[in-house]
Amino acid sequence: MPEFPEIPHHIAIIMDGNGRWAGERGLPRREGHRAGAESVREVTDACIHLGVKYLTLYAFSSENWNRPAAEVKALMALLDRFLTDKAKDLRKQNIRLKAIGQIDRLPGKTRKLLNSLIQETAGHSNLTLVLALSYGAREEITCAARSLAADAATGKLDPAAIDDKLFASRLQTAGIPDPDLLIRTSGEMRVSNFLLWQISYAEMVIVKKFWPDFRQHDLNQAVTEYQRRHRRFGAL
Ligand code: IPE
Ligand code: IPE
Ligand code: MG
Repeated sequence: MPEFPEIPHHIAIIMDGNGRWAGERGLPRREGHRAGAESVREVTDACIHLGVKYLTLYAFSSENWNRPAAEVKALMALLDRFLTDKAKDLRKQNIRLKAIGQIDRLPGKTRKLLNSLIQETAGHSNLTLVLALSYGAREEITCAARSLAADAATGKLDPAAIDDKLFASRLQTAGIPDPDLLIRTSGEMRVSNFLLWQISYAEMVIVKKFWPDFRQHDLNQAVTEYQRRHRRFGAL
């Protein structure tokens, strides 16, 4: 290991296991989501402490709309609360907030809260916190393809000029570097439609703990694991 091991520039997290965490305690699933919001606060602080520049959190997938209406409602209410409570920290800690996903599907109140914080924090430079909300990677990729096809159809774009850089510039993550480290909690070995394009060369760390039990120490451990890896990018 080098003397000053590299800190991942961008960490992406699939925050999974809230429901099971609650189930184990005989609590309703929403209590798991509530406890999970606490982990979000702690992990955000830990990233700032380490000097991570981008943190992307998978908070709600396109497929999560298929859950019972009461759970979706509880999740949106928690998101409202999180955004309201977090506003102070975003200012104090110089955090820039961003969102990816189909934001227009979110309830009006949530959307307004989110957009006003995104606008307000656009100039902040300490950590960029990207919330993936109503997010699905296939949708994102399809949308990028559609926009390129539209430009090609009107003659604005030569199809031969489409390369991976141009493609990436049409994704919602345009301007955000690809994740270096992808963490998933609750032990599941799948990506569940998260950042399919962007994680091409991310190092994956799967943690057994459920998300509400994931603390600063667990993030530090995942980073240490990342630092032990030898990233090759297909070369030697
Ligand atoms: C992750 O926890 C949070 C969301 C997907 C919104 P889950 O709700 O998926 O919890 P499990 O995986 O069912 O335990
Ligand atoms: C992925 O978790 C989505 C989020 C963490 C927001 P899910 O619980 O929805 O994924 P599956 O159903 O286990 O694939
Ligand atoms: Mg889950």
